[in-house]
Amino acid sequence: MMIKEMKGTPDYREIIDLIDAEWPHQFGNLSNDEKIKELQKGHNNQTDTLKFLYHQNKIIGFYRYSLFPRDNPQTTTAHIFDIAILPEWQGKKLGKMLMKDMIQDCQEKGFEKLLSRSFKDNVGSIKLHQSLGFSVHLETEDSIVWEIKL
Ligand SMILES: CC(C)(COP(=O)(O)OP(=O)(O)OC[C@H]1O[C@@H](n2cnc3c(N)ncnc32)[C@H](O)[C@@H]1OP(=O)(O)O)[C@@H](O)C(=O)NCCC(=O)NCCS
Repeated sequence: MMIKEMKGTPDYREIIDLIDAEWPHQFGNLSNDEKIKELQKGHNNQTDTLKFLYHQNKIIGFYRYSLFPRDNPQTTTAHIFDIAILPEWQGKKLGKMLMKDMIQDCQEKGFEKLLSRSFKDNVGSIKLHQSLGFSVHLETEDSIVWEIKL
């Protein structure tokens, strides 16, 4: 297993299976092309950190985080946008490994707080955040916003 940072604008087409694994039903039933377009449009090279998890030459997981707020270069808070493991690789502590890598990456870059969000019907995501020591920052009707001090 190897975790590698992806610099520049990624080709999200490469990880469509991961995007599918992560896509919440709350975001609507989009086609693959539409999902890729959304991610491509939403990616910002200046503010986002993206890493892929490789098994041999295959990408089996990824994460992305950004500044929060995104338009404040002085901020010491980061926000997770994505974290996913391919379904056949889930439940093997790889999500936890990626999350630990993300926390360490944020610490090394000087961030003091990391925020994240789970939909309340996403048990895997909730358990993952709890297992890493995130606490509830706030709750909305359908989501939990997490925070962890770094
Ligand atoms: C959420 C996700 C990244 C977790 O990755 P994973 O590799 O399957 O999880 P891990 O094996 O590292 O498990 C981490 C912890 O969460 C628990 N956990 C993970 N999925 C779980 C589930 N479905 N039900 C209950 N517990 C679960 C594990 O038991 C473990 O807890 P522990 O360390 O206290 O024993 C993965 O399930 C995934 O890709 N889901 C689809 C994408 C997604 O929803 N991403 C989150 C967006 S916020």
